[in-house]
Amino acid sequence: MCGIFAYTGKVGKEAGGVLLDGLLSLEYRGYDSAGIFLPEAGSVRTPGAVAELRKKIPKDFKGKSGIAHLRWATHGEPTEKNAHPHADCEGEVWVVHNGIIENFKELKEKLLAEGHMFKSDSDTEVLAHLVEEHLKHEKSFEKAALAALNEVRGTYGIALQYKKEPDRIIAARMGSPIVLGLGDGEHFIASDPSPILPHTKKVVFLEDGEVAVITPDGHKIFKLDSTNVKREATHIDWSVEESQKGGYEHFMLKEIMEGPQVIEDTLRGRLIADEGMAKLGGLESVANELKNIERIIIVAQGTAYIAGLVGEYMLEEYAGVPVEVEYASEFRYRSPVLNQKTALIAISQSGETLDTLEAVREGKRKGALTLGIVNAVGSTIARETDAGVYNHAGPEISVASTKALISQLAALVLFTLFFGRQRSMGVKTAKEIIAELKTLPKKIETILKSEETIAALAKKYANNRDFLFIGRKSNYPIALEGALKLKEISYMHAEGYSAGEMKHGPIAMIDEHFPTLAIATVGSVYEKMVSNIHEIKARKGPVIALATEGDKEIGKLADDVIYVPETIEMLSPILNVVPLQLFAYYFAKEKGLNVDRPRNLAKSVTVE
Ligand code: M6R
Repeated sequence: MCGIFAYTGKVGKEAGGVLLDGLLSLEYRGYDSAGIFLPEAGSVRTPGAVAELRKKIPKDFKGKSGIAHLRWATHGEPTEKNAHPHADCEGEVWVVHNGIIENFKELKEKLLAEGHMFKSDSDTEVLAHLVEEHLKHEKSFEKAALAALNEVRGTYGIALQYKKEPDRIIAARMGSPIVLGLGDGEHFIASDPSPILPHTKKVVFLEDGEVAVITPDGHKIFKLDSTNVKREATHIDWSVEESQKGGYEHFMLKEIMEGPQVIEDTLRGRLIADEGMAKLGGLESVANELKNIERIIIVAQGTAYIAGLVGEYMLEEYAGVPVEVEYASEFRYRSPVLNQKTALIAISQSGETLDTLEAVREGKRKGALTLGIVNAVGSTIARETDAGVYNHAGPEISVASTKALISQLAALVLFTLFFGRQRSMGVKTAKEIIAELKTLPKKIETILKSEETIAALAKKYANNRDFLFIGRKSNYPIALEGALKLKEISYMHAEGYSAGEMKHGPIAMIDEHFPTLAIATVGSVYEKMVSNIHEIKARKGPVIALATEGDKEIGKLADDVIYVPETIEMLSPILNVVPLQLFAYYFAKEKGLNVDRPRNLAKSVTVE
């Protein structure tokens, strides 16, 4: 989730300072490199954070306008060469970009054939060259930019600047947010309002497919087909911190709400629907080795480990590969028997969890092929594994992992399709999975609309001291996750169990003060779950059932019901985890706890 900030003004402010301060308030979006361009002073780029950029900026770096960027890598390593802004051949047209240009390869080939010289591996650079190319025929920067944008496919939030028209900056939005800040004699463009707010509270949000031009004196908005757009400015009273949270009270809630987008981002460009295939560019370098894999070991910690457990069900049932899932912290201290036909998959949001990293190193020593499912681009696990897949979930700020899990599960579906189609999975099954996968963002949106119902339930049960979560098959790990979320942000005693294990001990705890959340959505174990709920009710235990929309029977049995849309059993964990995340969130909020920074925990555990 890169950050963009652009400024043009005639009120005597130093553009360099305005832009650097603005970038600081965008750092919460994550970064691996930063850069700035002022037409009057040139460009400076660096790997690292804004502090690194500040150190590199010369004293005479001054100007009245400019564009700046914080990068969270998608294409290309986080190096100075790949940091934004990117320029055309002559260093005249400059661009900062958030998103992915999907057709950048074909555009780059065309531009190379026309003689353009590229300096980076970034998909973004094609935009600067495209504008340069159009400037040969179009009368103005504005027209050339519009022609270039009409050639581009993918997602973008963009700011473009042309050295010969230094006070004019062009912005465009397709899938990645862009907001304009309207000041008096100064105007701004940013990927969210946080860097704009210290200067003006008057903002205009662009819609997808819209282009805007700002100068010190004003702004205009039009569509990609050049028709004009009139939009009233919005006055926002958010503080900078509120703005970083997108208006939500906590990052955790914002990140849960990002679920639909996260699925889209993880899947983007990776499904070949008509062939029933997953295309995972990050695995191409080990394509031959993967064909010979006879066994998979997944290593991870915490929520990433729970993703691995769900992956085990998917991979064994649909790809026919034997899978073991193990805490990386245990794996590294035993003597695992591995060989070249074993793939060791490390799952990690941060890519820096020490135990997971050491498990990768142990796997390598023993000759296994090591793969990563990692969110943080360029992180140590991403670098040390032989190959892998990035989540593209954007940075996760809240200590409690939510959106990363959604994207890990979506990535594991992609792995299952990938391995499955190399083995026993038929095209019909694959196509059915892909078709259903594509419906998940909308279905998650529906679940998110039950926020108030879930908040009310959290309130109802907030005085309980213990909680049990039960599920079966691939929803057993989701029961573990429901309990983990409640433990880590509410400090509650919560246990996750396989519902089938209840009778072997845990049921002894059940009484009227010990509530259970039972995952009883439709699927092959539905009746078994209903029996388990009967057993709990017979012991006076309160039950919240997580059930499929339209299930009228369960309401007669359980005390409370949370409904989710129907999906195929394989994908049900991706939907079912969302209400449990919301439940934990509202539970902790109800207790007035520090949701985003729970006690005793760190976002990334880089010690043993
Ligand atoms: O960065 P990682 O995914 O490797 O982190 C693993 C765990 O530390 C992490 O999932 C932790 O359990 C979360 N706080 C759970 O919400």
